[in-house]
Amino acid sequence: MVTKYRIINDKDSGISEEPNKATKNPKEQKDSFLEDPKAFKEYSFHKEEHYLIDKTILTPEKEIFFNIYRMDKLKVVPVIEATKNRPSKIDKELSASAGDFVIKKSDIPLYQDYLLSLAGLSDPSEEGKVKTIMVRENSKLIMKDLLDDPRSGEKIKESKVMVNGMVDCILQNRDAIYNMLSLRNYDYYTYTHSVNVAVLSVGLGVAIDLKRDDVEKLGTGALLHDIGKSVISREILNKQGKLDSREYILMRNHVTEGEKILRTHKEVSEKSFDAVLQHHEKLTGKGYPKKLYASEIKLFGRITAIADCYDALTTQRPYKTAFTPFKALSIIAEETGDYDPELLKIFIRMLGKIR
Ligand SMILES: [Fe+2]
Repeated sequence: MVTKYRIINDKDSGISEEPNKATKNPKEQKDSFLEDPKAFKEYSFHKEEHYLIDKTILTPEKEIFFNIYRMDKLKVVPVIEATKNRPSKIDKELSASAGDFVIKKSDIPLYQDYLLSLAGLSDPSEEGKVKTIMVRENSKLIMKDLLDDPRSGEKIKESKVMVNGMVDCILQNRDAIYNMLSLRNYDYYTYTHSVNVAVLSVGLGVAIDLKRDDVEKLGTGALLHDIGKSVISREILNKQGKLDSREYILMRNHVTEGEKILRTHKEVSEKSFDAVLQHHEKLTGKGYPKKLYASEIKLFGRITAIADCYDALTTQRPYKTAFTPFKALSIIAEETGDYDPELLKIFIRMLGKIR
């Protein structure tokens, strides 16, 4: 029996979930240590000053040349202390430890060098897996740069190259989706979410046999779907708990702001805009910004809406536990009428192996 949840649009992902009062499960609620304004300020600062890395790339015994920290609620705790001149070896237990691992933004070039060195290490049987991990990590880096500087034409071009890489990997091997998703993070980061939504959308596009060219346009739109959040204040983006009505209106503007930004980039196809403009629309007409009904919502909008909702539900936040993939899919399926039922069926089948 699935607990009934009401999905509401009021958080930084654009989608969040709130149990109905009658069925509230205390396990889903965490101590809201972030209600303290000073604590929130610190948390928000750390989040902006650091970059989330993926633990799966930490190869035991390999040398690393930069500090790695664990985001532990409000604190940033060093787990590896290393510099270019004083490298440290990665402990084999490290990737199994809890929490999100981050690096200082200034160390991103050293992290990129580390990623490149991994490609050289892999044995031929692992080649496909390493390629998918590289596509995922490089897509996140490009998205992070784009959110900092959304007018960069160069980064838009690079994002399209990354989407091509995603499509290649998934066409070669459908299971590449699992290596390309960033799973089990302890907090929400727009760049990680954007890459996950792109991977899930490309996967769904491939599963319904879209033409290659269309899958690429879908993937680009999905990757850039939240680029409008780059103009929203960090205070609102990182706010924990419910937004007030003014903040909610500002947050919802990310859709039209995203369109404005992308109109300045001629290389973004018109079709990709459907993903950006319609990922918060619902078939029941309860979405935003245009409250479109069923047939008014285009295919790319329907696909990214499902991918966006799924990734938001399965991502943990400092104040709540993430839903398991099974539960997240059950919740989306319960929202009868909001999402395209045929696409949802294929989406559930596609994620069959995920735990
Ligand atoms: Fe959004």
